[in-house]
Amino acid sequence: MPELVDLHAIQVSVELGPRSYPIHVGSQGADGLGRFAREALEATWAGRSTRSALLVTDHNVAECSYLPASRSALEGVGIAVRIAVVPSGEATKCLATASTLYDELIAMKADRHSVVVALGGGVIGDLAGFVAATYSRGLPLIMCPTTLLAQVDSSVGGKVGVNHPQAKNIIGAFHQPAGVWIDTTTLDTLPPREFRCGLAEVVKYGVILDSGFFAWLERETGSILDRRPGALREIVAHSCRLKAQVVSQDEREETGLRAVLNFGHTIGHAIEAAAGYKGTVLHGEAVAAGMVAECRLAERLGWLGPDLTNRLVSLLGRFGLPTTVSGLHEEQLLEAMSRDKKNQGSRIRFVLPRTLGRVELTDAPELDDVRSVLSTLSS
Ligand SMILES: NC(=O)c1ccc[n+]([C@@H]2O[C@H](COP(=O)([O-])OP(=O)(O)OC[C@H]3O[C@@H](n4cnc5c(N)ncnc54)[C@H](O)[C@@H]3O)[C@@H](O)[C@H]2O)c1
Ligand SMILES: [Zn+2]
Repeated sequence: MPELVDLHAIQVSVELGPRSYPIHVGSQGADGLGRFAREALEATWAGRSTRSALLVTDHNVAECSYLPASRSALEGVGIAVRIAVVPSGEATKCLATASTLYDELIAMKADRHSVVVALGGGVIGDLAGFVAATYSRGLPLIMCPTTLLAQVDSSVGGKVGVNHPQAKNIIGAFHQPAGVWIDTTTLDTLPPREFRCGLAEVVKYGVILDSGFFAWLERETGSILDRRPGALREIVAHSCRLKAQVVSQDEREETGLRAVLNFGHTIGHAIEAAAGYKGTVLHGEAVAAGMVAECRLAERLGWLGPDLTNRLVSLLGRFGLPTTVSGLHEEQLLEAMSRDKKNQGSRIRFVLPRTLGRVELTDAPELDDVRSVLSTLSS
């Protein structure tokens, strides 16, 4: 059957010289994935000769129709597919699961003509990406993200890795994918809470890089929450464009520019750590409350008036995201922040807005200022 062309699809390019790659954002299922993968792989050293794929997914995603659809799209272009289904959830992102995936690659006699395909959320992208980065010193990787968070954030930029029992994301590599295939219809089955978590990262891009995008989100809240295909393609493609701009200027977090993506995350990570990663506060929820607290810190430092914080609180509220968290004490949060691997020594630095659409890295602010904004979190 001939493939249908998705006339509404948006193409975004991540410019990284010889490691540049395309992102396809469409809403027509896996139709076209085979051709996309072939073309993306041809641009890598694997060339035209990719013959086999390890398609990694999790139990939840394996229930959905896009698993067989993705498999047949790849088989349709002559790539034999072996499927590995791992348990869903953050605990799967560990060396033990990575090891089971190396076993699969050995069993299928994977070589440099094999590709790893990550079909799932950020857990699958990080895990399968890490396996692709390390097996045989690097196999090509195709990302097929199925959560909003993975579509707007984790599938783009090349950071892959697994957790250590004592530290999240501490074992990892930079490994850019050969291509990212985003089908926004996969979001139809995503639970509302997971969908909202992805929106927190979308709002972040507006605050740090694009005031027009922030205003567009304010206008289009209804169509986004209704998950209208056009609105989804737009938020996903524009978020990818913004992240791609940052990544192409600071691929390996060396110039400091990539740090702008940490807005909301210094306090957000502390909230997640203090809450104990038990699922009471999800990453996007922690980032939402973290962005508000960090805006308040910018106000305290005299960088901003109250307008931006008010607009942010209102937009996050309309998206159903929390702007406060209860049950956490500011000393607990400070302690978690000083343990964050991104802080140098005891200095806690923040990325804070100067105005809507522009952020800067601070020197370490006074602890009293930090304490004071943390205390507003539970109000
Ligand atoms: N590499 C990066 O740059 C980067 C950036 C941000 C986050 N991350 C990582 O991403 C991970 C979080 O990603 P996530 O929020 O996507 O989590 P996730 O992969 O655990 O997915 C969330 C849940 O949704 C389910 N799911 C996935 N797609 C679905 C679909 N279409 N329909 C129904 N259910 C579906 C999953 O099975 C899981 O239960 C964290 O490990 C985080 O560290 C990485
Ligand atoms: Zn995040």
